[in-house]
Amino acid sequence: MHNPIIAALDVPNAAAAVQLAELIAPAVGAFKIGGELFTAAGPDIVKRIRATGANVFLDLKFHDIPNTVTKSVASAIRLNVQMLTIHTSGGGEMMRAAEKSAQDTAQQLGVPVPLVLGVTVLTSSNGATLAEIGCEPDVEKQVSRLALLAAQSGLRGLVCSPLEIIALRKIIPAHVQLVTPGIRTGAEKADDQKRTLTPREAIAAGANWLVIGRPIYAAENPRAAAEKILETLR
Ligand code: C5P
Repeated sequence: MHNPIIAALDVPNAAAAVQLAELIAPAVGAFKIGGELFTAAGPDIVKRIRATGANVFLDLKFHDIPNTVTKSVASAIRLNVQMLTIHTSGGGEMMRAAEKSAQDTAQQLGVPVPLVLGVTVLTSSNGATLAEIGCEPDVEKQVSRLALLAAQSGLRGLVCSPLEIIALRKIIPAHVQLVTPGIRTGAEKADDQKRTLTPREAIAAGANWLVIGRPIYAAENPRAAAEKILETLR
């Protein structure tokens, strides 16, 4: 079994991120670098986290014209990331451009093709949010629609909430990898996550990767917390 834990480095600066990453790298499969850390620490943080030996998931959720997304994806891959995110609501042409850029850039560099993950409807959005911007107001329908479009556009992965895994597994091709946040072990508080699954439940439902933040980095012993989670998956 590959280690499906992606530990979110939701910390404000490079020093804190590197310290956490060095501590827990042997117990996780990848680290997620998001907008807060990347914007504060700069692209060099990717190199420093990669130096721990772990894979990097760059979660910057690109959403722009196809030409710009093509170049952004290429830049991310040159930084040596293994997973990255784009917004599926950018449309089919943008997603095809992103995937092509990943394939082309990886081939040029002679590295495995990174996983371009499509983000569908943010879990902070509800029907009213979708209606406000003139979209299909049924969240489930909009998620399915965007997920299918992403698969048709050649994306090989999607980010989804724990409670979307089962529905998506029924409609998307089996090779499409699902990455899910909203994971709680039951031992900690749910924080602001409202719909959670345990790591084991999420994998059983069909997730390939688990994005885990506070249950690891806010634990008294983050390394032990990650190891314990991995243990529940064996
Ligand atoms: O601390 P926690 O485990 O809730 O962190 C989850 C991580 O996944 C955070 O980095 C959060 O931004 C991200 N995420 C999420 N829900 C989404 C998409 C991303 O919690 N729908």
